[in-house]
Amino acid sequence: MYRFHPSVRFKNDYPYRDAIIREVTDLWKRYRLDERTEFEVPVHSIWKDEKTGKWIVQDPSYGDFDGVIAAVGTCGDAKMSHMPGQERFPGQIYHSSDLSGKDIRDKNVIVIGGGASAVEAVEFAVQSGAAQTTILARSNKWIIPRNAVVDALLSFNIFGEETEFSWVPEKLLKLFFYRDLEDLTPTKRGLYTDTPIVNNDILEQVRKGKLKWLRGDIKEFAESGIIFNHRANGVPKGGPGEETTIKGDICIMATGYHRPSLSFLPDDVFKEPYKPPNWFLQTFPIGHTDICANNCTYINGIGTVGNIHIGLYTRLLLMFLADPRTRPSAAWMRIWVDWTRMCKRAAPGGALEFFTYSELMWWIIFNIFSSPRRWKWIFFVLWGWGSIPANHAGDENFIANGNSRPKSDHRGSEPRGTGNERLGANGKPTYSAALASNMPKGQPRETNLKEEPPFVDSRSQQAREEKQKV
Ligand SMILES: NC(=O)c1ccc[n+]([C@@H]2O[C@H](COP(=O)([O-])OP(=O)(O)OC[C@H]3O[C@@H](n4cnc5c(N)ncnc54)[C@H](OP(=O)(O)O)[C@@H]3O)[C@@H](O)[C@H]2O)c1
Repeated sequence: MYRFHPSVRFKNDYPYRDAIIREVTDLWKRYRLDERTEFEVPVHSIWKDEKTGKWIVQDPSYGDFDGVIAAVGTCGDAKMSHMPGQERFPGQIYHSSDLSGKDIRDKNVIVIGGGASAVEAVEFAVQSGAAQTTILARSNKWIIPRNAVVDALLSFNIFGEETEFSWVPEKLLKLFFYRDLEDLTPTKRGLYTDTPIVNNDILEQVRKGKLKWLRGDIKEFAESGIIFNHRANGVPKGGPGEETTIKGDICIMATGYHRPSLSFLPDDVFKEPYKPPNWFLQTFPIGHTDICANNCTYINGIGTVGNIHIGLYTRLLLMFLADPRTRPSAAWMRIWVDWTRMCKRAAPGGALEFFTYSELMWWIIFNIFSSPRRWKWIFFVLWGWGSIPANHAGDENFIANGNSRPKSDHRGSEPRGTGNERLGANGKPTYSAALASNMPKGQPRETNLKEEPPFVDSRSQQAREEKQKV
């Protein structure tokens, strides 16, 4: 799931941060993206220049752009809730994102939160030699094993919601994975409503007595730890329980992150009822096939986080930019959202708020096949095979126009949106053309990339000349 390029090889199935960053940096330099990256640019607005139809980031000094990928992610600033009595607690309080280098050997560690970061904090505590770790979770999430086959089967629910058969995987997980720890399974939250935690060891740590996993509500911090209302399974948040003091020397807040804002996008993308995540394929705002909010409208899902879907969405954007005839109309984008919401109106996780990997593939495949104009892109979009077949757009138009094309149509089709897309010349992929228009501020384009000659479809030009002769 972390292999974002064929050349990327990791030693582990779940590589560590350093290894991922090393590979990203390597690719970034290999593709000369370092020359085209400008850091320290807090983006407050993007807008479309009406004359050129191109996107401008803040002001024109950064250049103009055919398309925008918003990749701000889902985890922004750390959520560090202030809890009553925190000042009285003598130990250190860290956020789960700030654990590197912290010495917690032989300490009693309290982890607040029951999500994936809490589980990672426990892994850190165990590896660092903590004496005892206790998780204080307000609610239970499903935990599923790190097993490619099991995870693929779980995400094989094409409906992307709870069905009458959802009890089957839930029962199997309880029987073969949770076993004696069934009390930790969510009772009121189905498997297909929320992102599960993918982990193999955490339940083992509970069995070994290294970890206590308690469900309940934090009352306040005390000098010796945290006063906690321990609830039985099924009792809702704030419900009755047993009040107890959890002793601890160090507290880790695994309380999540604030979602980064997408407010730099134009206002019309937030119009009701098509606010994110209610966008085309969850990622393209209605009426904007040139904005791909890749993985930042994502809320919950099974098997949907990884390079694969990010690549799929990016290639869809490239298809829309390179071949304007493939772009869905705003009306179709709305119909698709309405249709998905109607089909999943009873889904407890929400229609576009939760989806499975197979449902995502169905969305994408359905949308590629629903328009014959997109068929020639199937291999490119689904697998990244081949180059962008922009030069074939000429052939298609040639056929569509009954063997004659307007003179201005030297690229095969006039863009509906911008009218300024520069497609690849000489049958080459158009990545370079797309990138050439995105030169960093103050850097003349000619110094970085050779200007490509205008694209001329020699076969159709020849045919046109022959037709004129006739
Ligand atoms: N290896 C991985 O793939 C990996 C690792 C880490 C994170 N992630 C992803 O990153 C995202 C963030 O994960 P996360 O675990 O940092 O955050 P998260 O999923 O938002 O979980 C936060 C946890 O903190 C609890 N919480 C929040 N405020 C609290 C408060 N004031 N008092 C008590 N409990 C509180 C929440 O309880 P409630 O649920 O009751 O609100 C929840 O259990 C998720 O999408 C996750 O899947 C992935």
